[in-house]
Amino acid sequence: MRIDIITVLPDLMKSPFEGSIMKRAIEKGHVEVHFHNLRDYTANNYKTVDDYQFGGGAGMVMLIEPIDKCISGLKAERNYDEVIYMTPDGETLNQSTANTLSLKENIIILCGHYKGVDQRVRDLFVTKEISIGDYVLSGGELGAAVLCDAIIRLVPGVLNDETSALTDSFQDNLLAPPVYTRPADYKGHKVPDVLLSGNFPKIEQWREDQAYQRTKQRRPDLLED
Ligand code: ADE
Repeated sequence: MRIDIITVLPDLMKSPFEGSIMKRAIEKGHVEVHFHNLRDYTANNYKTVDDYQFGGGAGMVMLIEPIDKCISGLKAERNYDEVIYMTPDGETLNQSTANTLSLKENIIILCGHYKGVDQRVRDLFVTKEISIGDYVLSGGELGAAVLCDAIIRLVPGVLNDETSALTDSFQDNLLAPPVYTRPADYKGHKVPDVLLSGNFPKIEQWREDQAYQRTKQRRPDLLED
């Protein structure tokens, strides 16, 4: 999989890709991530990427021209499955979207800033708009990093059995059950007996029950689907 990220703040974006699973996925060649500084695609000496909005009002709007140049240049090189725009008014990211995107070959992620991008960018180039939650960030960069993390760990081959994504929260519309490690008794706080029983069908049943109870308590909306 190849991910091209278009941003005015490439340096802000890089560190999440330099550790843990995303780093390993890149090193092992499962994923390529390329950052494109939008200022490199400007036609003017000041490297301006935004301007005042027509009709007046506070806040700048990102210009279509540098975004067009960047996206069109990338599209001339290869086909893209999706051009994703990070925006608070996009569809809210969930596990199902992450699963779907993890199977794509090439995607572009465009990070918005200020008041966002000129609407014509959305009309002409964007195929999917994603929000990471009902709150407003200063820009799309941190959202894009979250999206990449959620996708990349699901790319086939990235996780080994030990870190399998299959038992993650949300994977089957259930939250994950509680987990424990040593010691079995910490200052009188004991690990549930069943987990020490060695009876694996019983353990599996306990985990399923716990996942269901936890979901019912914390996220009953997930059980409605
Ligand atoms: N840009 C600003 N806020 C955002 C959000 N909640 N999700 C994605 N991109 C954003």
